[in-house]
Amino acid sequence: LRRYAIDGAFVPMAVPPDHLAAGLHGLRALGFRGANVTVPHKEAVIPLLDRCDAHAARIGAVNTIVIAPDGTMEGRNTDGSGFLENLRAQAPAWNPDRSAVVLGAGGAARAVLVALSDAGCPEIRLINRTRARAERLAADLGGPIRVVDWTDRAESCAGAGLLVNTSSLGMAGQPPLEIGLDALSPDAVVNDIVYTPLQTPLLAAAAACGLHAVDGLGMLLHQAKPGFQAWFGVEPTVDPALRTAVLAG
Ligand code: ATR
Repeated sequence: LRRYAIDGAFVPMAVPPDHLAAGLHGLRALGFRGANVTVPHKEAVIPLLDRCDAHAARIGAVNTIVIAPDGTMEGRNTDGSGFLENLRAQAPAWNPDRSAVVLGAGGAARAVLVALSDAGCPEIRLINRTRARAERLAADLGGPIRVVDWTDRAESCAGAGLLVNTSSLGMAGQPPLEIGLDALSPDAVVNDIVYTPLQTPLLAAAAACGLHAVDGLGMLLHQAKPGFQAWFGVEPTVDPALRTAVLAG
């Protein structure tokens, strides 16, 4: 907003799950142009909106809401494009033709799985603490997703070129994600979409093993571009200066 001299604000608001509908009405009443939606609301918000675009409907999760002048709310999903744009920027050697491992089966996982599948990933091993949730997700999305047990997570990395953590493990206040990384391909990329803290225990372990660690801030910045464009009419550029500005708070 400062860079483009836009007179606006982006404010974080913690919304308890049972106040989600009231929170959305509040946004409309207060004249907001839209919102981003994060854990744990990305799926729950869908029935509360007036409509979803086709991509968000396919993923079954919303991270961006655009409020039209008539007050109607449209849900969109930019997590998948943000995830891929960031991966391509931070790890240009990453090749989607290799197997990938995805941990977690929430709203963020849905977007990451669709993005990897659309990018041509031949096999995606999906691992979640609650296996039934992963099975449901695999059945919903179809494609090259294979569900693996949480207890087999280290072995299931065998030969994979990418590991993505979409679970909340490793986030401030949550336990670390514990997973052996030895079975990954030596040139694998490890991407944690958690960005608080930026250096998660998973990324520290990946770097210690000589793997290519990609942090979650880049996806946060890239997923924000389409929402910013819709609300403020400008597509923002994601560059090192933006990253530095966001890190400086
Ligand atoms: P988001 O929409 O951001 O993806 P979410 O839907 O709340 O958030 O999903 C959180 C993910 O973190 C889920 O995959 C969850 O696993 P469960 O489906 O078993 O709940 C995972 N997660 C959260 N806490 C966890 C823990 N202590 N151990 C393992 N997985 C955990």
